[in-house]
Amino acid sequence: MISQETVNKIFDTVDIVEVISDYVTLKKSGTNYKGLSPFTNEKTPSFMVSPSKGIFKDFSSGKGGNAVGFLMEHEKLSYPEALQYLARKYNIPIEETELTPEDIQQRNERESMLAVTQYAQKYFTEQLHSAEGKAVGLSYLRQRGFRDDIIEKFFLGYSPEDRKALTNQALKAGYKQEFLVKTGLTIEKEDYVFDRFAGRIIFPIHGISGNVIGFGGRTLHSDKNIAKYLNSPESDIYHKSRVLYGLYQAKKSIVNSNRCFLVEGYTDVIALHQAGIENVVSSSGTALTPEQIRLIKRFTENVTILYDGDEAGLKASFRGIDMILEEGLNVKVLLFPEGEDPDSFSQGRSSSEFIEFINENEQDFITFKTQVLITDTKNDPIRRANMITDIVRSVAVIPDGIKRSVYLKECSLMLSTEEAVLYNEVNKIRQRRREQDWRKERSSPDQLVVPVQPTVPSFVQNIFSEIEEREIIYFLLKFGNRLLKLSGAERSDITVAQYIIREIQNDELQFTNLVYELVFEDVKAITEAGKPISEKVFTFHDNKEIQDLAVDIVTSKYELSKVWKRKESYIEMPGENLGVEVPKALLLYKLKVVNMALDELRKEVEEVEKSGDGERVMQLMARLRDLEGVKNELSHVIGERIILR
Ligand code: CTP
Ligand code: MN
Repeated sequence: MISQETVNKIFDTVDIVEVISDYVTLKKSGTNYKGLSPFTNEKTPSFMVSPSKGIFKDFSSGKGGNAVGFLMEHEKLSYPEALQYLARKYNIPIEETELTPEDIQQRNERESMLAVTQYAQKYFTEQLHSAEGKAVGLSYLRQRGFRDDIIEKFFLGYSPEDRKALTNQALKAGYKQEFLVKTGLTIEKEDYVFDRFAGRIIFPIHGISGNVIGFGGRTLHSDKNIAKYLNSPESDIYHKSRVLYGLYQAKKSIVNSNRCFLVEGYTDVIALHQAGIENVVSSSGTALTPEQIRLIKRFTENVTILYDGDEAGLKASFRGIDMILEEGLNVKVLLFPEGEDPDSFSQGRSSSEFIEFINENEQDFITFKTQVLITDTKNDPIRRANMITDIVRSVAVIPDGIKRSVYLKECSLMLSTEEAVLYNEVNKIRQRRREQDWRKERSSPDQLVVPVQPTVPSFVQNIFSEIEEREIIYFLLKFGNRLLKLSGAERSDITVAQYIIREIQNDELQFTNLVYELVFEDVKAITEAGKPISEKVFTFHDNKEIQDLAVDIVTSKYELSKVWKRKESYIEMPGENLGVEVPKALLLYKLKVVNMALDELRKEVEEVEKSGDGERVMQLMARLRDLEGVKNELSHVIGERIILR
């Protein structure tokens, strides 16, 4: 138990701004600080920290509390873990109510496991400086070029050759064999026990809050029959799939640089630190998992993967990278020269040389993948087609529509394939996936929507109208029930939702984004049933995609400024003049649809002209003129009714 005196001291010392700054970029705002909520996806800061009150309040998620509460919420720490974290951060010695062997016994299991792990880490680190450790372990690390300060920073250690050294010592100190075994430090075989890591260099693995939760152990033998690395087994305190080696040491630097390097192993992480690069992690011993990616995402959206120059390994990893893209992260890759890894490459290079090399050689992943595959499939049309599908699949998993469209533009150039063709492919893949997800998620029959499979008119089959569509959904969800005060002849008692539904239906418009279309269908069903629209129907919707969209929209402080800018403000201000805003949103959407249709049509005219089908050309030209007429009309109305900034 941590003594009350220590708890008081921790609360007296802690600077909440400093604590939270490790996770959130805070800017001073009057006497307070503000930043982006770490609990939601917001784009406009509504997360406030008051240093004088020692508390935070997140207006977008409603969460609030003191520094310990923040750590418990954000880092998923228990109360004692959060206190331990703070004590460590501020060098406050933890006074525990005297530890007798009985006390150790009474601790709960997890705490006992953490305690024995911490004990082992200290033991290994001490052993590195014993006679045996110095001669075998430390000399090895130094010979590999690791500096003493770096060895210390990562708490590297050594486990003696004597196969019972740690086990005996820990038992003597009062730790129970049960927990030595459960943490994997000790292996139990019938009637005898021995140390898992005997004779190995020890790499302690820290949890995000700084507790040691596991170890990697590297052998010092070059014998091929001995595993080069042994790792702690999965346990209550060590879930491999949720841990990234080096994250504890890296997180501050990841936030500051807004970028995270991903490397293959322990030694790469350490070598980069030694080269002055601290925003680096590795998924040690396992393939990268979605949980690990989400862990990175809490700190930055920018990941650069550092590869050693092995092409086979590289291609094998492409699928894994799609998973990173799928989480919405921006992925870059850097290939080291043949035979080099970050560890070897950093030897004999200054930190600035190393960083320069990264900055000059990192490439966007999609571009990189395209390049690698292009050289691979030269002159082979079938493999080329497969390659295009493969690349398109990577683009299709990217959640952000704007990013997807930027990539497709670039890929279309690199692959000399028409952008429209790539769009179609991406949309097909996305639609198929949505339908799959949809079917998976639909279970209860009393839902409002019948799954629609929108037959998107071919002329709108791209995603350029994303922003305009979202704008309309925004008004539906936030102001659907409000009465619309239209000017002039249109004065009537119509709600925003009724008006939008009428306009969309009159022009037979269909959202290209399936999620928006589903929301629209729901709104329509609710409105037609004469019921008011409540945000909750959508923020608690069974369909996760709809739910996410709705939460995002209702907690956003009017961030839809891409169509027309508004001054940034804390006060909710849209909705003040719905009679102007809503028709404007619809007009802009219609204009976009018409423009897209015109683009399509012009392309078609070009094609048909080549084929020499005069009659068809005439038809198309007539349609083109019509549409141009519509466009002029729309532009005119927009120009007249709305002063665009
Ligand atoms: N690894 C592992 N078990 C193994 C081999 C590797 O868990 N038997 C993991 C380790 O996390 C290791 C990473 O995979 O750090 C990369 O392996 P490798 O490149 O072989 O090791 P390095 O980290 O480069 O170590 P060293 O430079 O000491 O060879
Ligand atoms: Mn290596």
